[in-house]
Amino acid sequence: MKKINIGLLGLGNVGTGVYSIFQTNHDKISLSAQKELSIKKILVNNLNKDREVSVSPDTLTTSAKDLFNDPEIDIIVELLGGIHPAYDYIKEALKAKKHVVTANKAVIATYGRELIQIAIDNHVALRYEASVGGGIPIINTLSKPLSVNHFEEMIGIVNGTTNYILTQMTDYGLDYDEVLKAAQDKGFAEADPTSDVEGEDAAYKLSILISTAFGMEVPPASIPREGITKISKDDIEYASQFGYKIKLLATAKKSDDHLEFHVHPTLVPNTHPLASVSNEFNALFLKGNAVDELMLYGKGAGSLPTGSAVVGDIVEIAKIIGTNFDPTISIPENSGNLKPSGEGISKYYIHFRVEDKPGALGIISTAFGNNGISIETVMQRSRGEKYVPVIYILHDCTREQLNSTFDDISKDNTVKEVRSILRVEEY
Ligand code: HSE
Repeated sequence: MKKINIGLLGLGNVGTGVYSIFQTNHDKISLSAQKELSIKKILVNNLNKDREVSVSPDTLTTSAKDLFNDPEIDIIVELLGGIHPAYDYIKEALKAKKHVVTANKAVIATYGRELIQIAIDNHVALRYEASVGGGIPIINTLSKPLSVNHFEEMIGIVNGTTNYILTQMTDYGLDYDEVLKAAQDKGFAEADPTSDVEGEDAAYKLSILISTAFGMEVPPASIPREGITKISKDDIEYASQFGYKIKLLATAKKSDDHLEFHVHPTLVPNTHPLASVSNEFNALFLKGNAVDELMLYGKGAGSLPTGSAVVGDIVEIAKIIGTNFDPTISIPENSGNLKPSGEGISKYYIHFRVEDKPGALGIISTAFGNNGISIETVMQRSRGEKYVPVIYILHDCTREQLNSTFDDISKDNTVKEVRSILRVEEY
């Protein structure tokens, strides 16, 4: 059997998973690739650190050049995370005509097209299955078996940390801060959870999904996004009374020649398949014009699930090394000439704090009517206080219509506060 050598950049959480999969599943991996695969060198920061896996000291190096300049290394696997130096290393590896596998969503979302072009120019492969949805085979499924479809919508729960926090808030009636702290203590949330809880991580992943499914280039910074830090246990409770769960959704929806995309905490009806995706699990729900509805579900993070996707990419590359098969993947084309359409229209959930006095609901409802917004449901919870929660579920409207309504309402001091504005998904 031909031998394929691999170099790992990084031996952290995912790197350890990859290494341990190679130890436990070695025969299965070689059988699948029809080649003998082995990890030859690993770039680390500290040669003497205690590790969960036992690695021969000869395998470890602190110099990336030892991997790029080794003619026996065929595939470089980037598992450092963050933009720099990961992006620079990927570029250097491709230019050294090494095939590259990465799990790096920030690099692929930001520089994916440039790196794919460098891979094409150098006749090597660049694969990034693990960058979205951890162990769930999303990128491969979208770009191979599902590529015959025109996609109409794609809605993902693509961040495990926020889904874990929202699930715990829902199941135990806890506030955001309490759950975040417990999640950090248990190692489920990062010490600095900003990228996860502010929706940045989900925006990176949505950018990659849009490129893969719609062939449209959307820089992650241009994706409208809102995180989960302002979600209260009260909103979760009220949403539940209306038959919804609150989830952080990464959404892309096509309408004619426009694509709407955003990351927002959203009320998902309990009947929707995404409502049952709990804790650290991820899922991608999509509609294709041929396949119709489909949901991919699994563990979106973690050493072994993410490692599984990385090793899968390594095997796909190993299969084509030494064959006539062109290893490069084509840059997806925006074949429908889709244009971005901003946040689009949506049903909304609005939570007001309102003075409990005659005519209060009339003032708000009139303002909605004057701005062309139709009300689906309204609920008031009176606890005998001066200000009480009033919740509206609205039919489809734009964010501009909502803002104009809030301007009108603010001319009267009946409404003390617009506490929450959340999108509502239909099913
Ligand atoms: N931080 C991510 C999450 C995992 O919580 O889902 C890696 O993409």
